[in-house]
Amino acid sequence: MNVIDSIIASLPIHAHERRPYIAVAYAQSIDGSITSYRGTKLEMSSPESRVLSHQLRSRFDAVLVGIGTVLTDNPRLTVRLIEGRNPQTVVVDSQLSIPLDAQLLKNERLPWIFTTDRADPKKRKTLEDMGTRIIRVRTDDQEKIDLHYVMRELLFLGIKTLLIEGGAHIINSLFQEKLIDAMVLYVAPVFVGGVHVIEHPLVEKGEESVRKKLPELDIKGNARLGNDIVIWGIMGHE
Ligand SMILES: NC(=O)c1ccc[n+]([C@@H]2O[C@H](COP(=O)([O-])OP(=O)(O)OC[C@H]3O[C@@H](n4cnc5c(N)ncnc54)[C@H](OP(=O)(O)O)[C@@H]3O)[C@@H](O)[C@H]2O)c1
Repeated sequence: MNVIDSIIASLPIHAHERRPYIAVAYAQSIDGSITSYRGTKLEMSSPESRVLSHQLRSRFDAVLVGIGTVLTDNPRLTVRLIEGRNPQTVVVDSQLSIPLDAQLLKNERLPWIFTTDRADPKKRKTLEDMGTRIIRVRTDDQEKIDLHYVMRELLFLGIKTLLIEGGAHIINSLFQEKLIDAMVLYVAPVFVGGVHVIEHPLVEKGEESVRKKLPELDIKGNARLGNDIVIWGIMGHE
């Protein structure tokens, strides 16, 4: 079996009652960095990993990123390296900071953007006139977009399976909200000493010895992809 089929076969991919199935995929260095400096893009994955990332996209209904990733990497999030179906793209962007010339806005299938009432109504109108679906949602107690609400809305809109492709803040929030079902990690054999995906300890002070309190990946497989190692599994939250 090839790697993509092994991944799909080993994960119990099905929507939950109130949200889609959520898988997170990202590339990291051997020391756990996802980029060198915040706001910069670091290409570290092998060509083989990049092909797998497109295969993975083609197997999910939608792919979501945070606005930080749009501003830094300007991704298209389409399936180009293989033949396959493009997923719906989704951006979490509370102030509608997405540039009007972003690659996502040039795709045939325009993104859905989750935003708040802090967004400029004129920009909202411009984006809607372009054909972008803008969904206004409530914020959580830290003024960030409530991701549980986003997930409920996505399920309502027909998204049963969701792939999250970053960046650090979004993945951090997903960990905090215990919203991750599965992970696909591309580990590149380089040392970066840069930005880590998890910013704060996920265990309370004094509980460091209680390993079962840490979110843990139940590893379902791994493979060598060029110089990278890809690891996938089911996320267990306490
Ligand atoms: N190695 C990889 O695989 C990979 C993948 C993707 C990105 N990256 C890297 O990661 C960096 C970008 O990451 P980032 O952390 O700056 O940006 P991000 O996670 O893509 O987006 C974060 C932004 O999303 C918005 N947001 C709204 N609600 C949120 C919520 N509930 N939780 C979290 N964010 C919320 C906030 O902006 P507003 O308040 O303005 O809405 C926040 O600043 C770049 O350097 C990029 O190259 C690496």
